Amino acid sequence: MTLRPETLAAKAVHAIDEATGGIVPPIQLATTYARDARYELIEGRDYTRDKNPTVLPAEALLAALEGGAEARVFASGMAAATTAIRALVKPGDHIVAPRVGYYALRNWLEKFCARWQVHLDIVDMTDLSAVHAALRKERTRLVWVETPANPTWDVTDIAAVADLAHAAGALVAVDSTCATPVHTKPIPLGADLVMHSATKYLSGHSDVLAGALVTPSVDEAWEAITELRHTEGAVLGPVEAWLLLRGMRTLFVRVERQSQTALSLAQRLSSLSDVTVVYPGLASHPQFAVAETQMVDGFGGMLSIRVGRRDPLAVVRKLRVWLPATSLGGVESLVEHRASVEGPTSPTPKDLLRLSVGLEHEEDLFEDLRQALA
Ligand SMILES: Cc1ncc(COP(=O)(O)O)c(C=O)c1O
Repeated sequence: MTLRPETLAAKAVHAIDEATGGIVPPIQLATTYARDARYELIEGRDYTRDKNPTVLPAEALLAALEGGAEARVFASGMAAATTAIRALVKPGDHIVAPRVGYYALRNWLEKFCARWQVHLDIVDMTDLSAVHAALRKERTRLVWVETPANPTWDVTDIAAVADLAHAAGALVAVDSTCATPVHTKPIPLGADLVMHSATKYLSGHSDVLAGALVTPSVDEAWEAITELRHTEGAVLGPVEAWLLLRGMRTLFVRVERQSQTALSLAQRLSSLSDVTVVYPGLASHPQFAVAETQMVDGFGGMLSIRVGRRDPLAVVRKLRVWLPATSLGGVESLVEHRASVEGPTSPTPKDLLRLSVGLEHEEDLFEDLRQALA
């Protein structure tokens, strides 16, 4: 019987404690493992670094949810992304990355490429002709995609970008943090690597820093990533892995509700005067057509509002339900003025507030925004 993703998540891939029958897996804190009487390793386990028994079920579940062959978890989303990029490219290679996306990764990429003589083109990833023009045959090693992308929720057509990249001999990596496996599965669409900040929706409770990579196949590129994580040790600790696995059990119900509330809020906020709502589930969004085809069962829990002539920080100060904090994907709703956080080089419009929709009652969330925007 082939189990559906919702079932695999709820059962945490059958991660019961075989020793006691406990239906919640124990946390194995040991860093090292004794050999048996024949001096053989038990199940190949020698050291915690990449064989911790609390970490492995989280990786197995992630691989299953993404339809991948294997997954590796990391100490953070940034650790996952930077390990992948450093394992895949060498000096002289070329990377194509998106203009809109998680700003800390773009900043790191610019510094990394300058330092290691890697050529970098930052393009509008939603413009396929721009992507095509940027690709250099046999020179481009990697195309980095984030969809929907922070903070204007640009939706990239993964299948179309993968076709273009593969024709040029390049790999495609997709930061699917905001889509989650609930709404988008990049691997069946052609991605060669899926990346998550598991700090966000996968863990879901704003209490774990974690990252993940998922591969469609165990090949040379994946082995290079695995080796780099092993040698550098940007692994996830067992307590965090346990919390991640626990969070993923409720992934589908959380994200489905967050997406429903986000869509409803997006529609209702659009009727307020001098407020522009940016959400891929609205027909007004520039990539609504791509989002409708690519995303399933909703458009995610992230939206932004542009508050026009109002002072955006004054709006934030009036909010009582939405917490003014960075990050996203938790059960509590968060608001953030991205231009302040991203600093003077930020391309984000100054009147934009990013909203991460949590699990509070929709009416409380709407009323709070309505009074702050009045
Ligand atoms: C889309 C996206 N990718 C990557 C990251 C980095 O993840 P982490 O904070 O787990 O390192 C973030 C964090 O905000 C993010 O929003």
